[in-house]
Amino acid sequence: MAESSQTNTTIMSFSKTLALGKEILKQEQEKMIVGVPKETAEREKRVAVVPDSISKITGAGVQVIVESRAGEEAGYIDSAFTQKGATIVEKMGSLYSQSDIVLKVQPPNISEASMLKEGCVLISFLYPSSNLEIIKRLKEKKVTSFAMELMPRISRAQSMDALSSQATVAGYKSVLLAADSLPKFFPLLMTAAGTISPARVFVIGAGVAGLQAIAVARRLGAVVEAYDVRPVVKEQIESLGAKFVQLSVTAQDAQTAGGYAKAQSEDFYKKQQELLAEHAKASDVVITTALVPGQRAPILVSEEAVKGMRPSSVIVDLAAEQGGNCALTEPGRTVTKYGVTIHGLLNLPSMVAPQASQFFSRNVTTFLFAILKDGKLNVDLADELIRSPLVTKEGEVLHEATRKVLNGTRSS
Ligand code: NAI
Repeated sequence: MAESSQTNTTIMSFSKTLALGKEILKQEQEKMIVGVPKETAEREKRVAVVPDSISKITGAGVQVIVESRAGEEAGYIDSAFTQKGATIVEKMGSLYSQSDIVLKVQPPNISEASMLKEGCVLISFLYPSSNLEIIKRLKEKKVTSFAMELMPRISRAQSMDALSSQATVAGYKSVLLAADSLPKFFPLLMTAAGTISPARVFVIGAGVAGLQAIAVARRLGAVVEAYDVRPVVKEQIESLGAKFVQLSVTAQDAQTAGGYAKAQSEDFYKKQQELLAEHAKASDVVITTALVPGQRAPILVSEEAVKGMRPSSVIVDLAAEQGGNCALTEPGRTVTKYGVTIHGLLNLPSMVAPQASQFFSRNVTTFLFAILKDGKLNVDLADELIRSPLVTKEGEVLHEATRKVLNGTRSS
């Protein structure tokens, strides 16, 4: 009798455990899946999420799957992701078909966009106005897509500002490229064999990348001058130990409310080119970073200016991605013109992939948390932080400039 009662108790406790196990399994199965694919763009070594972010994401009540070898080129092996709670998925197609939310660095290509699950969420750089076919595909698939580059520049969004984090990396790397290509020392050297003067570096455009370039060039011992069309940056330039270059031409209404430069007239750019040529002539290195949102980068270093530079000088054109600030830049290539080395390399952040990924991962996961509540999607369109980077949702293109281009009416 006692034996039978003990057996009954054991069976009951076993079935309770089984029920609990089933409940946990059900909860796990109901969790949203966040997918991190391997980047496929040429020369892209970054990964959208690094292992250190995985446990933070799973802590928000979702599962994370990572495509096998997604982090390899950034120095993060598969086991580093699994140790933090991610599951590795071998096939890209399987990752896309399971993911409710996809976190990526580069915009998806057409084949990746086609693999996205209907109605899923995509967070990545998107550049919608230049990727219309992709946007059409996202619209067809009713994807809710957020463009990291459209994050508003408000203090609440600072930790999500991937443009700034990646520009910091690019600014740093630009100086190292220049220092490596310049057949001269950067610092002043006073030795028994003689004195070497420091290299002269001229930075054009003192936004995030430019300020970082100034700081790194100063640390390497160069004498640095910098110029920006926005006079408000004078103080920032000087605080980094560089000289602010004042040109005898003043931009009209130089800055937008968001802190970006405004486009100027052709006459203004022509005058700028002439004046900047004088400074380029006296420099060993020119680093250009000048961008105007939504426009081709302005040409600030003309062919004449390159001709005037000393042979063996170096130009690093960080604006190559948007066509370049130097008239002779060939985006994606390093060329030598009139004896001057001109770097038009694209995607410098990918050359510092481990830490560029670390920054991006922080940016993208902080934004992810802003659209999650209790492990479920919570896209609050009334919030500027959510609305600004939103490109497509429920089969609609919500990014105004892109919608206008798609409808054949270009925005100004
Ligand atoms: P950007 O990448 O759009 O442009 C780089 C730089 O090129 C800018 O400083 C711009 O003024 C300059 N430029 C454009 N046309 C030029 C010309 N013709 N000649 C010389 N320089 C020219 O800018 P970035 O780096 O994204 O930042 C711009 C500003 O945005 C920052 O300086 C800051 O004030 C603001 N910002 C605000 C943030 C926030 O969270 N509140 C975060 C990051 C930046």
